[in-house]
Amino acid sequence: MTALPIAAPPTPRRFYIETWGCQMNELDSQRMAGQLMQQGILPTRAPEEADIILLNSCSVRDKAEQKVYSRLGEYRLFKRQNAGLLIGLCGCVAQQEGQRALERVPGLDFVVGPARVGELAQIVARRRQGERVVATGFPAERTYDVDAVSRSGEYKGMVTIIEGCDKNCTFCIVPTTRGPERSRPLADVLTEVRHLLDYGFHEIELLGQTVNHWREPGGDLDFADLLEAVATLPGLARLRFITSYPRDFTPRMVAMVGKHENICPYLHLPVQSGADGVLRRMGRGYTRAQYADLVHQLRAARQDLALSTDIIVGFPGESEEDFRQTLDLVEEIRFSGVYAFTYSPRPGTAAPRLDGQIDPAVASERLQRLFALQEGIQKDINLTLVGKEYDVVVTGWGREPGMQMGRTPCHRVATFATGPEPAPLGSVTRVRIASAHTHSLKAERVA
Ligand code: SAH
Ligand code: F3S
Repeated sequence: MTALPIAAPPTPRRFYIETWGCQMNELDSQRMAGQLMQQGILPTRAPEEADIILLNSCSVRDKAEQKVYSRLGEYRLFKRQNAGLLIGLCGCVAQQEGQRALERVPGLDFVVGPARVGELAQIVARRRQGERVVATGFPAERTYDVDAVSRSGEYKGMVTIIEGCDKNCTFCIVPTTRGPERSRPLADVLTEVRHLLDYGFHEIELLGQTVNHWREPGGDLDFADLLEAVATLPGLARLRFITSYPRDFTPRMVAMVGKHENICPYLHLPVQSGADGVLRRMGRGYTRAQYADLVHQLRAARQDLALSTDIIVGFPGESEEDFRQTLDLVEEIRFSGVYAFTYSPRPGTAAPRLDGQIDPAVASERLQRLFALQEGIQKDINLTLVGKEYDVVVTGWGREPGMQMGRTPCHRVATFATGPEPAPLGSVTRVRIASAHTHSLKAERVA
């Protein structure tokens, strides 16, 4: 008897996405993953197994941009084993480099800017027909398919409410790479949030470079109205938003943060510097006193509010006295977290032309002093939390076996022993803080 020939099953096609940078890029990666999965292409954690590799890049500082090119060089080598492999450059470096990236990296197949993410499926199809596509720029019409976002495994549902930025801070490349500001209509935002709540998310994170500058397109509503509309949706346990621009906070927005219990008592409010002269040259549009006053109002509205911030050290013209002003502000405000970097000159921005560029060694030394100060403050704040109980949203597994991680409402990381039954990812569980470290809290689950 002759055996019937059995056809070998088709090798599943796999994709691998590497994401750099901010929450916007995280969400863009979820959108690209979703589009590929709709075509039956599945994710892999091993780039060498992938048939499509996407590098979702960040260009906010020079170092991140340099790394993109070296990474593309590494991925290109996988084409020796897999001739059908496609490599795409996405994100802010893609927008900035466009055609140049294709010229510089021979094995690169396509380039997709942040405003063209919704077109990935067509771009891949065009590449398969031979075209090396460059999809950049900021078209008026953009595709955003809320059903094609791969959110699985995530504990929070991210929703863009405003794209781009019109602020033009003198150090920042984002207005070039993410384009002009565009608010999404409230109705679209609410539809997407409802969809995520139906899906089972407890936590919603609203995204925008200047999230509190949202305005209803062609209407009068502002971010305070949007917060109210979203916070009152049934089933929403936690609402967060990032990033708030200090100057755009109105008293009504401050009041909303105090009014709705499910708005998390945590805000990221970049200050950048504590010296007025530096803030002016950065084009930030507020003074140190105005920033401190806003913090005062926010804390009056919401007593348990935790604040984190971004700081740039070594901005052109920053004197030792200016830097001391920044240290002084950090001491005064007592942030729950500080994301600080040395200034990095970016192409097409105004700051590289300013006088008084700072020696990198001086900037690094200042950065270390800032970190040392902040570590002490953070440890002190965290020690005050020992003994308190919090509901944490479970975000993943701890590094040690048997440990899980969660986020408190004030967005601090707490690790806790799973106990006999691990808490499901994305669920809410109650813990008591047992001990405090600079960057995390150790907790015990409370029955
Ligand atoms: N509105 C966005 C800004 C994106 S850039 C947000 O706050 O998320 C994020 C942070 O990167 C900025 O707040 C700033 O502190 C830092 N940054 C931006 N450009 C930089 C540069 N040229 N050098 C160093 N840090 C920079
Ligand atoms: Fe950049 Fe300033 Fe906008 S930091 S993203 S230009 S608010």
